[in-house]
Amino acid sequence: MRVLVTGGAGYIGAHACVVLIERGHDVVIVDNFRNSSPEAVTRLELLLERPIAVERLDLRDRTRLARVFARNRFDAVIHFAALKAVGESCARPLEYFDNNIGGAIALLQEMAAAGVKRLVFSSSATVYGMPDTVPVREDAELRVTNPYGRTKLVTEQLLADVEAGDPAFQVANLRYFNPVGAHASGLIGEAPGGVPGNLMPYVCQVAGGRRERLQVFGGDYPTRDGTGVRDYLHVMDLARAHADALDHLAGDRGGLTVNLGTGRGVSVLELVHAFEAASGRPVPYEIVGRRPGDVAEVFADPSLARERLGWRAELDIEAMCRDAWRWQSLNPDGYRTRAVAAMRAR
Ligand code: NAD
Ligand code: WQD
Repeated sequence: MRVLVTGGAGYIGAHACVVLIERGHDVVIVDNFRNSSPEAVTRLELLLERPIAVERLDLRDRTRLARVFARNRFDAVIHFAALKAVGESCARPLEYFDNNIGGAIALLQEMAAAGVKRLVFSSSATVYGMPDTVPVREDAELRVTNPYGRTKLVTEQLLADVEAGDPAFQVANLRYFNPVGAHASGLIGEAPGGVPGNLMPYVCQVAGGRRERLQVFGGDYPTRDGTGVRDYLHVMDLARAHADALDHLAGDRGGLTVNLGTGRGVSVLELVHAFEAASGRPVPYEIVGRRPGDVAEVFADPSLARERLGWRAELDIEAMCRDAWRWQSLNPDGYRTRAVAAMRAR
């Protein structure tokens, strides 16, 4: 299939492009590089040994987006492009509504104009807010707790309305839990700008000596060791789910909404210890107060994805830490590290 990948230079999008291209799809990336680097595309080209089509533009620029649709006959779209920092979304909600919801509307309008009927959407476990019970099933109540989460929920709702209005239009909403890790080559990975807000990239930078110690947010949760429990998922397992979702949509079997996680909860301290073992480096930490808005324990019931897509996560927390560390140690400055250096060090 010829696939438009919005946000394809970003963390998850770049990994998905690897799987899509390896499975024989033709990929065109659209990205404004707001939270990524053209170097990610160069790395993809190195890894896959072929040129990658990329268009630098903001999705909300409908004139230019229409030209991309006019130049290509897309069979499907995978929509990763969004802003994703929860704290920033609380400080600048309108920017998040405009970028994430406005971007989705512009994309849907151009898809409609071009007659493209298949869409895979990057949703998030954030739509469940603070779930009453774990594991979380897709039919759990949806109640977002921040503007970022609201953009995901609203976009899912918009997509449901568009599907209802056009029986040929099919959407796969993929609700990711906590994606971590990197491609095993060490050429692509997560490259947060500034201080990482998420656990794994922060741990990587502590192990790499860029930050002194991890602050563990809360040691008094009602969990195994008192620290927060999440469902970490290897980004390559997640990437594969996108190709599986495309196959599903191509089979005209209707839209779906599925959780993507391992179904296994891992605590902050368990992740820290797994990382120390995988990297051979110490990860100094201190336990501090809880982070506002955090929940004790969230993990997925991923059985629907297995049933509908034939997908299940295969890589464990050891593999996630090993690959995250390989990426970090080969690219201490993220995509600012020269690719040649990263290649030689392999
Ligand atoms: P990312 O920031 O690395 O990638 C997003 C990409 O979209 C970036 O390259 C950015 O430059 C681009 N982009 C943003 N707005 C754009 C716009 N208006 N026009 C064109 N390009 C634009 O984030 P990621 O971690 O790869 O996340 C991908 C998707 O998955 C996002 O929709 C995110 O909300 C969702 N998601 C991520 C996580 C996670 O923990 N990383 C969890 C659940 C859901
Ligand atoms: C994981 C655990 C923290 C940092 C967020 C978004 C969610 C989704 C994924 C996009 C928690 C603890 C963290 C640190 C710590 N993104 N922690 N010290 O909060 O589960 O989910 O990212 O959709 O929407 O909310 O992930 O990686 O921030 O935290 O102790 O420096 O690590 O308290 O228990 P979270 P996270």
